[in-house]
Amino acid sequence: MTFQINIDGTITDAEQATISVLDRGFLYGDSVYEVIRTYNGKPFALELHLNRLNQSAGRLGIPLPDRDVLTNELHRTLHQAGNDESYCRIIVTRGSGPLNLDPTTAVDPKTVIMVKHLDPLPDQVYEQGLRLAIPKVRRTSREALDPAIKSGNYLNSVLALAEVRKRGFDDALLLDRHGRITESTSSNVFVVIDGALVTPPLETGLLAGVTRGLILSLAEQNQISCREQQLTPTDLIAAQEVILTSTLREVISVVAVDDRRIGTGTPGPMAAKLRKILRRYAIEATQH
Ligand code: PDD
Repeated sequence: MTFQINIDGTITDAEQATISVLDRGFLYGDSVYEVIRTYNGKPFALELHLNRLNQSAGRLGIPLPDRDVLTNELHRTLHQAGNDESYCRIIVTRGSGPLNLDPTTAVDPKTVIMVKHLDPLPDQVYEQGLRLAIPKVRRTSREALDPAIKSGNYLNSVLALAEVRKRGFDDALLLDRHGRITESTSSNVFVVIDGALVTPPLETGLLAGVTRGLILSLAEQNQISCREQQLTPTDLIAAQEVILTSTLREVISVVAVDDRRIGTGTPGPMAAKLRKILRRYAIEATQH
């Protein structure tokens, strides 16, 4: 059960890993990242995560190492850590340079791969479900800092989470500036309306979650009706279930939003079914 960090190919214990304070990832959040987890000890949906890393880096103009270098280094770090299951984070920063914002002055980009033991959410959390609140903080617009870019700047999510935690809630459900539901601070959102699975479209301004994409296609394969549609807080009143999806949470029920109960106020059958379908798929996909 170790925590290993790989910086540009050198793997050390986490405590020994250091990076310059002049790195723009530290100074400005000028970096991109992915969080991946293993099933059967192997990274799940790695290609999809690397595709997104590529898209995020492309949007910011941050150069990435070759895909096979990233893949090899991740496997090497996983091997060195030797955990049964791991949480993996790949970070690529623009590098360092003089203390100015100009990205063209950056040199020495860094690739950091963190691998630590995966502590999955306890069953009890799935059995209880999450209580969410809608914060005053709005999701950044696509025209400002597009939430589709998974950058190292997570202050929008940090502010939203701080606000709702102060009020005793588990997580935040962020609206865009028009009052439409976007996503949670580190998960995508689905709603069950009349038995159908509904999620806001990417155009709303949200991260194209790997789990979100998988759930949309697995739902279809399992004859569960699903669609992308704009949602507002009013839609939550009619919702039978509200569900969050992410790499780490997989599929989890939301039992309340602000002080309003969702459905029966207990985790619903759709979330349980989708979690089972996703886990079965992930375990099969990482078998060999
Ligand atoms: N979070 N929305 C946001 C803002 C996220 O940060 C994430 C991922 C998701 C879900 O994406 P995926 O299904 O690809 O994990 C949605 C990861 C887990 C994190 O930063 O820890």
